[in-house]
Amino acid sequence: MAIAVSPALFAAETVKSPDGNLIVNVDILDGGIPVYTVDYKGKRVVNPSRLGFTLQSESTRRSFTADARKAAADALQMTSGFSITDTERGSFDETWKPVWGEETEIRCNYNEMALRLTQKEFDRYITVRFRVFDDGLGFRYEFPAQPNLTYFVIKEEDTEFAMTGDHWAYWIPGDYDTQEYNYSKTRLSGIRGKLPSILNPNNASTTPAGPTAVQTALQLKTDDGIYLNIHEAGTKNYPTMHLELNDTTMTFKAHLTPDITGAKGYMQTPDMTPWRTVMVVDDARAILASRLILNLNDPSQIEDTSWIKPVKYMGVWWEMIAGKGTWAYTDDYASVKLGETDYSKATPNGRHSANNANVKRYIDFAAKHGFDEVLVEGWNEGWEDWIGNNKDYVFDFVTPYPDFDIEELNRYAKEKGVKLMMHHETSGAVRNYERHMEEAYNLMNKYGYDAVKSGYVGNILPIGEKHYSQQTNNHYLHAIKEAARHKIMVNAHEASRPTGLSRTYPNLVGNESARGTEYQAMGGNAKWHTSILPFTRLQGGPMDYTPGIFEFDLSTFTPANNSKIASTIPGQLALYVTMYSPLQMAADLPEHYEKHMDAFQFIKDVPVEWERSVYLEAEPMDYVTVARKDKNSDEWYVGSTAGTADRTSKIKLGFLDPGRKYVATIYAEAPDANTVDGQTRYKITERKVDSKTTLSIHELAGGGYAIAIKPVK
Ligand code: NOJ
Ligand code: CA
Repeated sequence: MAIAVSPALFAAETVKSPDGNLIVNVDILDGGIPVYTVDYKGKRVVNPSRLGFTLQSESTRRSFTADARKAAADALQMTSGFSITDTERGSFDETWKPVWGEETEIRCNYNEMALRLTQKEFDRYITVRFRVFDDGLGFRYEFPAQPNLTYFVIKEEDTEFAMTGDHWAYWIPGDYDTQEYNYSKTRLSGIRGKLPSILNPNNASTTPAGPTAVQTALQLKTDDGIYLNIHEAGTKNYPTMHLELNDTTMTFKAHLTPDITGAKGYMQTPDMTPWRTVMVVDDARAILASRLILNLNDPSQIEDTSWIKPVKYMGVWWEMIAGKGTWAYTDDYASVKLGETDYSKATPNGRHSANNANVKRYIDFAAKHGFDEVLVEGWNEGWEDWIGNNKDYVFDFVTPYPDFDIEELNRYAKEKGVKLMMHHETSGAVRNYERHMEEAYNLMNKYGYDAVKSGYVGNILPIGEKHYSQQTNNHYLHAIKEAARHKIMVNAHEASRPTGLSRTYPNLVGNESARGTEYQAMGGNAKWHTSILPFTRLQGGPMDYTPGIFEFDLSTFTPANNSKIASTIPGQLALYVTMYSPLQMAADLPEHYEKHMDAFQFIKDVPVEWERSVYLEAEPMDYVTVARKDKNSDEWYVGSTAGTADRTSKIKLGFLDPGRKYVATIYAEAPDANTVDGQTRYKITERKVDSKTTLSIHELAGGGYAIAIKPVK
């Protein structure tokens, strides 16, 4: 039975994108159930989808009598009994300048509609705010301060995204603790059966969210060629969202990450949720060009951003990942304990990579070739204690191993014009990290470090807490804000998938938060991995993917590693352009680059600051081709990766200045290259080009090509 309200209150409310192609309609169904629909160019793309919440507890109602108990229980539903009691509308058009990014100016243009939804029975209301852009929409729930809604705990967010068919989905499984999966492409109806087979056995902490749960950003494609992409923006003080599919109705429902008790969000009015986003376009390149997520985030809260700079770096890292060196100083784990042991009396294992001589070797090479920084992992005590253990006191982030002279190495680096990059492996012990954070950042300030790579491997401690819960999300942001106070840039691995917070806190220069290059040394990544990440993981912010591998046979490092990387040198070069990040690593070893200095030249040349980006070719998983213009010169760089099949990329250089002459240096796979044992067969050619030039370049699945285009002087 419908609640008695005047018919006018049932009137649907509509808001359109500035170009009129995207229409969001909100209606109240019988029983006061709010739903929204989305139409694009006259076609329905999101069927009626419910809005609302189910609460676990709510503080304003007491339950002393049976009647009061029933009323309190009833008040836990926030999905029906609503009417629209107020509508506000507005439009916004502004161009803003990011501190770093794929371009120097971003236009933010949308129409807005905010609906007050009142539950008369409980005398309380929420606001649902929609912002509709030409390439997609965002909406969030706001909980204004009011007498009958103060503190509440969310049991589940009931937001739906009802699909109009059995679309193609490019997905990784929902998981509260890891995002380090290879992607699958299936119909929506194919998600359920496929799930267990791709769970990642390598990962220590994995907590699958359910048989049809997937992560966002979720890329979808309809049979009539519409690309939908569902994600979230500006996630603060709230758990990360997964999507759970009802594979009968093809309706996704929000599925938040629970905390240790199973609760999914502690709220106190005035409060709000992150934005729920749906991109809708009919050209895959527009997904890559979309700035919807950034535009829904707040402007920078850091006033002086002059110390935030894009960084090209190398690292004492890959040799440990690949199995040649170790993070730990000694193999005699039993003999050392952080804070209690004099490590200089322990027996060194002879394979500790972060030793003075080796670090200097990297500094020399990095300085010689114009890199900004050298990351050093395994510099600090505690790795012996951590490996295989989940303990809360493993690292203090301030005590170097005896063979790592922190003062001398920073002095040496400075003399050579490079900086060391700090590493904080928290081992998932977030409280331990918070306890030591101030001292750890002070140490960095003392020696001149301006960037930290942090990491959250293993279970979050206390055990039972999840990587993507509200509390842990709050920790990641706390670390970023504290770092900003110390003028430190942060690159957090294993943290929650980003949602554009780097606009608000631009010292968050990178995250891993997906399967990175490290897996190439542990069995490998799917060939299509880097041709899907720009559509999915990269929507929320840059990834520290750590490309630039030139040695593809990992047995070179240790006979125990039989990984062979299914990529090519030109394919690795392409990633510096296709996988946008203000933080780019040349991950391989100096001696491996020395064998291919002509190809290495591209890594030396490629900028990390861009003025403009043009998306030339794109299809999720199949290929991505991007051209970007350097921020500090008139040079252009092109990168292209192929994912599912070998192909010929055909591009027009219409982005070049008309009438101007350029020389293009093309780094392509040689005719006899392959991704099994011919990864290092490449050819570098130079040719004159201008804005009328068309290029056809063959690329291998798993590989790609790169071009540097410089104006003729
Ligand atoms: C996982 C990170 O992704 C990797 O880059 C790092 O080397 C290890 N954790 C150790 O901290
Ligand atoms: Ca990782």
